[in-house]
Amino acid sequence: MTNNVLVLPGDGIGPEIVAQAVKVLELVNSQDNLDLSIDEALLGGAAIDATGGPLPEETMAKAKACDAILLGAVGGPKWESLDMAIRPERGLLGIRSELGLFGNLRPAMLYSQLADASSLKADLVSGLDILIVRELTGGIYFGQPRGIRTLENGERQGYNTYVYSESEIVRIGRLAFESAMKRGKRLCSVDKANVLEVTELWREIMEDLSKEYPEVELSHMYVDNAAMQLIRAPKQFDVIVTGNMFGDILSDAAAMLTGSIGMLPSASLDKNGKGMYEPCHGSAPDIAGQGIANPLATILSVAMMLRYTFGFGETADRIENAVSSVLDQGYRTGDIYTDGMKKASTGEMGEAVLTALRA
Ligand code: IPM
Ligand code: MG
Repeated sequence: MTNNVLVLPGDGIGPEIVAQAVKVLELVNSQDNLDLSIDEALLGGAAIDATGGPLPEETMAKAKACDAILLGAVGGPKWESLDMAIRPERGLLGIRSELGLFGNLRPAMLYSQLADASSLKADLVSGLDILIVRELTGGIYFGQPRGIRTLENGERQGYNTYVYSESEIVRIGRLAFESAMKRGKRLCSVDKANVLEVTELWREIMEDLSKEYPEVELSHMYVDNAAMQLIRAPKQFDVIVTGNMFGDILSDAAAMLTGSIGMLPSASLDKNGKGMYEPCHGSAPDIAGQGIANPLATILSVAMMLRYTFGFGETADRIENAVSSVLDQGYRTGDIYTDGMKKASTGEMGEAVLTALRA
């Protein structure tokens, strides 16, 4: 059976980093006989330029038909003045929602070689290994009604709706408890239950679910405190589960603890294990086209894809070990560079990983 992978390079540094990740995918495909077939399509600003919209029908059809998607990043200043409904980001949100990719896994782990690249003191972050489980297809990102309206007094008002139904909370909760079972068995649910009813329900449902997972120690934290604790004492966390918007914010903060968001992969899963895999970082238009972006988050996203969607855990381990080995050898892109290391371009970093995989 062929394993179909769809590649969506996207915008900004997306095409540069994805090119390196695809080389890795092609190499392990032939080395380990994975039967992967790789196709490509347009998403985001690249799709707007070519077709007028961020999520062309052809891309959606391919996304539905494939088994897993590898995405670069979308967006950039070129498209920022467009109407919200046709911006590049809308293409990404459209795929997440259409494919039902509700479960977003964002690991934040520190490679010991990079302890000095973190903006926090090395002892606060050394050994850091957190998993953020972010709900990805609901909450305020998708709630209706939404828009900008004009009130009777002529003043304009922007509005969005923060909603979560019980079933949405249960399914993300289960994914989080299952994830905690495979790790340190500690789950912290992050909400704002002191103010928002929607998260009062969230908290209640997490409590109910915890009865099914007696081995997992469940705790709750308000999101403002969670933001503070992530910076104060990040190693207290094992798995964090939270809604779409809080997860968006906290995962960027958690990423930075590891020295660079350029190191962090992510998986967005549906209920059957189909997934979209992408680096946690964005399209970084400020450095696009210069060949200096860090491709490791995207390469690590390939590892997550092979593990979660295809069950090729050994190949995933090989890729992760190869990344660790290039860090041991001192290769560093600009974002993780510290004195005395070998400054590498995007392409050199990719090549170093390929060499490690061939060794
Ligand atoms: C992310 C990004 C997206 C989000 C944007 C690009 C729509 O920030 O994946 O974290 O907010 O979900
Ligand atoms: Mg984000």
